[in-house]
Amino acid sequence: MASVDIITGGAGFIGVNLAARLIARGRRPVLLDNLSGGRLEFLDALGIREQVGFFKLDMADRDAVAEAFASARVEGEIGAVWHLCANSDIAAGVADPAVDLNNTFLPTYVVLSVMAEAGLDVLHFASTSAVYGDHGDVALSEDVPTRPISNYGAMKLASEAAISAACESFLTRASVLRFPNVVGTPATHGVIYDFVRKLAATPERLEVLGDGTQQKPYLHVDELIDAILFVADRADPGLEIVNIGPPDAGASVRFIAEAVRDHVSPGAEIVYGAEPRGWLGDVPKFHYATDKLARLGFGAVAGSEAAVARAISEIAAQLADA
Ligand SMILES: NC(=O)c1ccc[n+]([C@@H]2O[C@H](COP(=O)([O-])OP(=O)(O)OC[C@H]3O[C@@H](n4cnc5c(N)ncnc54)[C@H](O)[C@@H]3O)[C@@H](O)[C@H]2O)c1
Repeated sequence: MASVDIITGGAGFIGVNLAARLIARGRRPVLLDNLSGGRLEFLDALGIREQVGFFKLDMADRDAVAEAFASARVEGEIGAVWHLCANSDIAAGVADPAVDLNNTFLPTYVVLSVMAEAGLDVLHFASTSAVYGDHGDVALSEDVPTRPISNYGAMKLASEAAISAACESFLTRASVLRFPNVVGTPATHGVIYDFVRKLAATPERLEVLGDGTQQKPYLHVDELIDAILFVADRADPGLEIVNIGPPDAGASVRFIAEAVRDHVSPGAEIVYGAEPRGWLGDVPKFHYATDKLARLGFGAVAGSEAAVARAISEIAAQLADA
């Protein structure tokens, strides 16, 4: 019988990359996704369509999720649940809080409820730097107070809290993995994806949200998955909260805009906005303290600018083929 891992939001950008890596480890990923952002074609592009199980469902629908878990169990023993399902559009969640309630928090509530009933006790959660909020120049360690400024960050933090509470009852192991900005393909959203698409529509001009000074850490998806598998492989019981990211001050939006322009449409004029942040709910600048990840023994990753440069050519090629 196969060894199964469940991935919620599994047809999305990070989910399909994680699925490919789990397959390489001899596991059978079973993906749960409503395909609002994810695409089955991403599985074709990676050549793994036949090697995954897939259930199209809304993660807020408890009965559907319970049924999918029961079916996955027929395929093999379930090892871990990787909970990646979330709303990825931060601005949409600021405009309408129901977006993050329904797509980010309720799915966590449902996953925990179904896992408890099914007797499953290992969970890895895709959390985010957005749980911290805006702390200016303070390096964000895991101990910095969490004061989210977006509903996305708030519902991720609420999810973390529910997972923490579940560790007191039925979860024996939970990792809360606070991702930085993750880049690579198949891109579904994000600053590089937006810039490449804008330049395809108007090759002579790139309009940038914000004044270009926004600066954040970026990590390539391949290295993100190295890091989260490393943390997940640790045998320590209980709740582990870890920042995942490069040990640098990040890449600026100006750097990214110029690099995308140079790659896609070298003559284009870049027009910046007036505000230091891109949109309401955007944390304009942050950098991570990644000492804990290093202390756990995970090695160095490429810097933010190298990750961005690599992802620009990958995403431009993805969108040119689309
Ligand atoms: N990409 C990043 O930079 C980044 C940064 C921090 C955290 N994260 C987290 O990592 C996880 C994966 O992100 P991603 O970049 O792959 O995003 P993504 O949007 O590509 O993937 C999310 C997936 O969830 C699915 N989904 C959303 N709502 C759903 C619902 N109600 N029911 C079923 N499926 C639903 C979407 O269809 C999509 O396939 C998310 O939890 C995200 O918050 C990502």
